[in-house]
Amino acid sequence: MCEIRTVGVLGAGLMGSGIAEVCAKAGYAVVVREVDEKALAAGRARIEKSLAKAIERGKLDAKAGDEIRARLKFSSSLEEFASVDLVVEAIVENLDVKREVYRALDGTCSPETIFCSNTSSLTITEMAAATKRPDRFAGLHFFNPVPVMKLVEVVRGLATSDETVAAVTAFARALGKEPVACRDNSGFIVNRLLVPYLLDAIRAHEQGVGTLEDIDTGMKLGCAHPMGPFELLDYVGLDTVYAIAEIMFGEYREARFAPPALLRRLVLSGRFGRKTGRGFFEYDERGSRRA
Ligand code: NAI
Repeated sequence: MCEIRTVGVLGAGLMGSGIAEVCAKAGYAVVVREVDEKALAAGRARIEKSLAKAIERGKLDAKAGDEIRARLKFSSSLEEFASVDLVVEAIVENLDVKREVYRALDGTCSPETIFCSNTSSLTITEMAAATKRPDRFAGLHFFNPVPVMKLVEVVRGLATSDETVAAVTAFARALGKEPVACRDNSGFIVNRLLVPYLLDAIRAHEQGVGTLEDIDTGMKLGCAHPMGPFELLDYVGLDTVYAIAEIMFGEYREARFAPPALLRRLVLSGRFGRKTGRGFFEYDERGSRRA
């Protein structure tokens, strides 16, 4: 089985920054790539904030924090990916953009490099088809916030080899995560069940079933969910949920996956949730909810 020493993380948004952090924490050398210097600085700041919080809470000592920082390299160029053993892609949920990136990566990386996508709703097979290495391509779906959430879904595409599945599963365990094996259907296991629930909460609100707060309280206190559906929607990012719903609806053609009108309105008006300071609720600069 191939040995993984260096990891390339594509995209340093909500997910990519967390993935880069857990890889560096587990001892891997990590190269993080973003589209431009501004996005790179934002990703770096996100990782720094998370490390500072872990140190403040006594979960990490300052020396370990420095070692993690030393393992992280930031770049806006793809050239740095020439020598990585495994790539985790966490860029926008858009098939055309992802395919274009995979085509470029295929030419840059060694033929041995394993490609993993953190996609929420696209299939691994359709992305792998843009490369000459569909056997070395798998899904590695992390959960938000990555440093906290234990689960990783390991997805086998139509052409993914047994060796790749074994290497990716071992890699997930080395990160301290609990891998589950999934078939390559849109949404894998968790989003196949979670996304219709979130969309249904929006429809319930549209139909006047309850206020945002009452629906959230209902699900927290009535079902022991740590977050209500609207808190969770804002946390995930409404732009991302909208993209996921469109993709899942295209795949299954079932009304339960169709994005409700209110979600579309919020996205069109730039209210993406916590990351833009406003979604269903409003947030201050530190990401705390305004009363
Ligand atoms: P995000 O919007 O926070 O970050 C996406 C990042 O990708 C942005 O910083 C953007 O500049 C960057 N990007 C776009 N094109 C790029 C390129 N060609 N090269 C490098 N970077 C590029 O989105 P988020 O939430 O981090 O989602 C990323 C992926 O992870 C999506 O596929 C999404 O479906 C998936 N995902 C999201 C979860 C969530 O809770 N938000 C949970 C699990 C998976």
